[in-house]
Amino acid sequence: MANEDLKLKVAKEALKYVKDGMVVGLGSGSTAALFIRELGNKIQEEDLTVFGIPTSFEAKMLAMQYEIPLVSLDEYDVDIAFDGADEVEEKTLFLIKGGGGCHTQEKIVDYNAKEFIVLVDESKLVKKLGEKFPIPVEVIPMSYRVVMKALTELGGEPVIRLGERKRGPVITDNGNMIIDVFMKNIDDPIELEKEINNIPGVVENGIFTKVDKVLVGTKKGTVSLNRN
Ligand code: A5P
Repeated sequence: MANEDLKLKVAKEALKYVKDGMVVGLGSGSTAALFIRELGNKIQEEDLTVFGIPTSFEAKMLAMQYEIPLVSLDEYDVDIAFDGADEVEEKTLFLIKGGGGCHTQEKIVDYNAKEFIVLVDESKLVKKLGEKFPIPVEVIPMSYRVVMKALTELGGEPVIRLGERKRGPVITDNGNMIIDVFMKNIDDPIELEKEINNIPGVVENGIFTKVDKVLVGTKKGTVSLNRN
């Protein structure tokens, strides 16, 4: 079964957690996009009163396309948030996110949800965080060089994320740059998440250590991994 089919299965499974009246955090990336589409369909079909809070420009556009009414953190708390991930450490459920450069707004919405559920296919599971994916770090543009120096001192290999069609750095929804930090053997993700955010100029990094549940799409069906 292709990864896309597994993502769709997980997106559909996630709908079971959405109840009438809820405010739902809407994640970013291809898996979250499927969830947003399925949620829009569910709201129309069952005539539900559900509101969304998007985690990116992409999520906002999709929510509008699928007619999910949007609200903001200005006025509402998030009952439940659904989001994808680039890596999930199997034992701890710690994540790396931000492959799409949206991790800052994602973390704001996801960490403030009463329940945060991650949607992935089995290719995202790793034994140790950092195995396959660098840690995305959003930085204020004027600070990029000194932040890269500090990230090197922490043992990482920082690289500026460049645009694919645009020449020059990727600019986030918040007008900042992304530094991708390659770092194997991340022994203490909780500490590293704090340490990176302590560097002046860093807005937010893509290590997520507060996750309630991960729904994993496997060839044999969807598996639910819960925080101990
Ligand atoms: C967006 O910045 C990311 O955090 C995504 O949630 C993550 O990259 C997962 O995306 P996919 O579902 O497309 O793999």
